[in-house]
Amino acid sequence: MTATPAFNPPAADLPGKPYVRPWVPPPVTNEKHNFADLHAIDLSLMDSSDPNVVARLVDTVKQAIRDDGFLFLENYGISLEQARLSLPYMYDNISEEDKERLLFHPDTGRWAGYKHPFGFKFNWYTREWNNLQYVPTCLHPFMDEITAFADYLTGSVNRRLLCLFSRVLELPDDYLWKHVQSHGSPSGEGYFRHALFRPVKQETVKQSQGLRMHGHTDFGTTTLLFSVPVSCLQIWGDDETWHYVPYKPGALVINIGETLEIVSGGHFKATRHRVYKPPADQAELERLSLVLFNSSLGDLQMTPAIESPLIQREGCVEYQGVYKEFKKVMDSGLSPPTNKEWREIQIANATDPTDTVRNRIGADQVLIGGKLMNQRDFMGVKVVLPV
Ligand SMILES: [Fe+2]
Repeated sequence: MTATPAFNPPAADLPGKPYVRPWVPPPVTNEKHNFADLHAIDLSLMDSSDPNVVARLVDTVKQAIRDDGFLFLENYGISLEQARLSLPYMYDNISEEDKERLLFHPDTGRWAGYKHPFGFKFNWYTREWNNLQYVPTCLHPFMDEITAFADYLTGSVNRRLLCLFSRVLELPDDYLWKHVQSHGSPSGEGYFRHALFRPVKQETVKQSQGLRMHGHTDFGTTTLLFSVPVSCLQIWGDDETWHYVPYKPGALVINIGETLEIVSGGHFKATRHRVYKPPADQAELERLSLVLFNSSLGDLQMTPAIESPLIQREGCVEYQGVYKEFKKVMDSGLSPPTNKEWREIQIANATDPTDTVRNRIGADQVLIGGKLMNQRDFMGVKVVLPV
């Protein structure tokens, strides 16, 4: 089999492109406890001419997405140098006018645009890809690089991943890519995020109890996140405690979204995760975050792909998460929300960890077996997640 073409980025030094200060990876934490141990998948093995190598790869993927719902992806076609992780530094130059004009409005059901404080986040949706008017002016000279990068992540990396996942379901290679994944812009109906978070003030840490984002599961197909040294991402283990995701230079951290948990009939796990303060020795470091949130077709009815021989043979897996809750809705004769309805209502109703009105027992939180949980209801689907 021929090797998949590697990413071939547009030149970074074309005339007219301003200088970007390089991203210097901050020091890795000395903290060793409480880190998750995740499978690492070498994506280039998909191109092997030895069918046994490919079969072993599919087996490892099957185990990783069923046990952990998170995995590291390596040798996926982009080197650390090519990734130009420094590009978010261009937001140092965003004008006050652009900050205001492009401020995001989650009540629209999309996170599109710019957000501050604590550094910044800029989320690229179809609108931003298609119309420069919605892009900060300081980024215009870099559109070729930013677009090519997102295109490769979606059209090559995510497509190959979905091919592996289709094989786990014993379906044709392009099943998930063709029937589930959305298309039409460099991030389909999902979004691509540039973010650079600055150290958080003590007062905010206290107010949010160290949380930066509540425990949640992503609602899309797959999430692709560049591994960075500052450890803030935590996943909920089978031992019912939080574990940091360790740093693996150059790797992508992949996690399964709710859509794939439901389409796979629970065979894939949309693992709960949150963003928490880093270990003490990283408290004063800035954290870079580049993430592609892949989303399914908006009008997809979120139901299992019953044509999957795996599902036909083994049935669905109901032990956890959102699939179980969607099944209750289906069993009661109601139709579950479409993917678009499901993601938009959650974004429109998201709360910030510093919100002391919603984040208390009696409002959004309950104690279950002595553990503090967020419990909410969206379109008849109960969502219970550890805080
Ligand atoms: Fe997430």
